[in-house]
Amino acid sequence: MSMDLKGKKIVLGLTGGVACYKAAELCRALVKHGASVQVVMSEAATHFIGTVTMQALSGQPVFTDQWDPRMSNNMAHIDLTRHADAILVAPCSADFMRKLAHGACDDLLSTLCVARPRRVPLLAAPAMNVEMWENPATQRNVAQLLEDGICLFGPAAGSQACGETGLGRMLEADELVEELVASFQHKVLAGRRVLITAGPTFEPIDPVRGITNLSSGKMGYAVARAAREAGAEVTLVTGPTALPTPHGVRRIDVLTAQQMHDAVMAGVEGQHVFIGVAAVADWRVANASGQKIKKQEDGAAPQLEFVQNADILASVAATTSLSGWPYCVGFAAESENLVEFGAAKREKKGIPLLVGNIGPQTFGQDENTIILFDETGHTLLERADKLTLARQLVSEIAKRLERRSLLT
Ligand code: C5P
Repeated sequence: MSMDLKGKKIVLGLTGGVACYKAAELCRALVKHGASVQVVMSEAATHFIGTVTMQALSGQPVFTDQWDPRMSNNMAHIDLTRHADAILVAPCSADFMRKLAHGACDDLLSTLCVARPRRVPLLAAPAMNVEMWENPATQRNVAQLLEDGICLFGPAAGSQACGETGLGRMLEADELVEELVASFQHKVLAGRRVLITAGPTFEPIDPVRGITNLSSGKMGYAVARAAREAGAEVTLVTGPTALPTPHGVRRIDVLTAQQMHDAVMAGVEGQHVFIGVAAVADWRVANASGQKIKKQEDGAAPQLEFVQNADILASVAATTSLSGWPYCVGFAAESENLVEFGAAKREKKGIPLLVGNIGPQTFGQDENTIILFDETGHTLLERADKLTLARQLVSEIAKRLERRSLLT
């Protein structure tokens, strides 16, 4: 479990909705990620979940009433946000969105939102019936909240507690934690489109067997998450992995190197950055069998022939000579002489930035050490978990993009 919210003070507001049951999980997850959580509930929320549960999970007394005498100055609407890093209203009902849009101050939570210091971001996770969400009045309020700089997480589409189906479901607790963590990251890639490959490829030998490698996809997925946290629109073309899609990332699943190549080339136009993290198979089986290959009586092994796969990174890099885009970043997994091989590989691939790592020390691991190679030399990024490294890489890429735009 990462401690991405370590030291953060979050005011968690609950308003009336069945999704209050998810707020209990959310509160627990926030605490597990290192946040200190102050729960404030509207009167309606208390019909869906008890204050006792929320107090037990947050470890702090819950506030519901603006006249709560426990505050020595009786100003809970002021004091509860003065040290906060963010206010997250989850679930945020249609009615509470109306209140926020109009600056209503008719209970503790609404008053506290209006009275928050300007530096404290207000984040809301809408949760309501699909008709309520799509109602023009609600959509007018959505537009107003966005204009006022209030950030909305979701809603998601799916089946609803009322039995209907559509937009209006509150995001799941882990998705909200991801969104909250992202909200604290610098938006250094805002407005940029980033295409990333990740994971291994799988090259069939016959319908039930194939050749693959030990790449878990963890680094590529971390890079996708970090790029999205930095404000980019991210597409992830991924070989087979067991990893969940980072929230807000568009994912395209492929199996073979050829499929990965085709998906990348079909989506590369208009991308600002391409990051090839995938461990793409260098060869595929030229004479793959349409049926399962049977063992031979005489013990003879099948005679496999190989043909080299297209180099996806090189193909993308070749397209940049026309427009200058996308900015290409490659990864190199070596087993020795990383500094020497990394620099040579960057030159050979014709790309501005290459990330080198030692294959056996990264495949499947949660931590890694990487070296960045560019035209000025190389820089070591100290051993850290992959998300930390991915964020550092994203910020290095953003710096280089910035420099480029200053030059052009
Ligand atoms: O040449 P090598 O396989 O070591 O290069 C690694 C880099 O090239 C990685 O960024 C990988 O994603 C990319 N690559 C590719 N297509 C291939 C082989 C490697 O995009 N067929």
